[in-house]
Amino acid sequence: MKFFVDTADINDIRELASTGLLDGVTTNPSLVAKSGHSSFIDLIAEICDVVKGPVSAEVASTDFETMLKEGKHLAKIAPNVAVKVPLTPAGLKVCHHLSQEGTMVNVTLCFSAAQAILAAKAGATFVSPFVGRLDDMGQDGLSLIEEIVTIYDNYPDFTTEVLVASIRNPIHVTQSAKMGAHVATMPPSVIRQLFNHVLTDKGLAQFVADWAKTGQTILDQP
Ligand code: E4P
Repeated sequence: MKFFVDTADINDIRELASTGLLDGVTTNPSLVAKSGHSSFIDLIAEICDVVKGPVSAEVASTDFETMLKEGKHLAKIAPNVAVKVPLTPAGLKVCHHLSQEGTMVNVTLCFSAAQAILAAKAGATFVSPFVGRLDDMGQDGLSLIEEIVTIYDNYPDFTTEVLVASIRNPIHVTQSAKMGAHVATMPPSVIRQLFNHVLTDKGLAQFVADWAKTGQTILDQP
């Protein structure tokens, strides 16, 4: 499973990239607004420089012509830009055009299996089903992931990767991995949570204390 970070905060991106565990980045207009960065284009260029995997940059318009122009403009920033378009008829038309030209496209705001089929048929590189937002309204976000993975597996000519989005906790990540989703995009806080287990901390404290009793140091030994 590939791990993307879902943020436009360059400091978080730099720190997480340094772990060697980061495969890509997703941003959206809300995250860009939160970052306070004054130039979206410069921000995406900076992120693409730090992370060599796919970096999703979302169009801002909703009509076909302007979205297509924006998508082409964003794709010029770096070869690892994945243009993010909404799952609307116009967004899928843009997806079709850009993917024909060899540009990576992430179709976002997917909330049903039917929508995911359309994204695959439009040639999307990634489809982003939002699990957390479905959970928030009392539906089961993870069951949508299961449905999409099953459907895509039935059609080997569907090359679209399932990018699980709107992740709220580590269980969303592990369950999606069990289902065979290709990518999980997570807020930095969830990525950090993945490292934690109380028994790891407890076990390490014990090992450190017992090692001190030996009076030895590893690096002083030939
Ligand atoms: C995905 O690409 C979106 O940016 C993101 O996962 C949305 O998550 P949210 O529901 O926490 O805003």
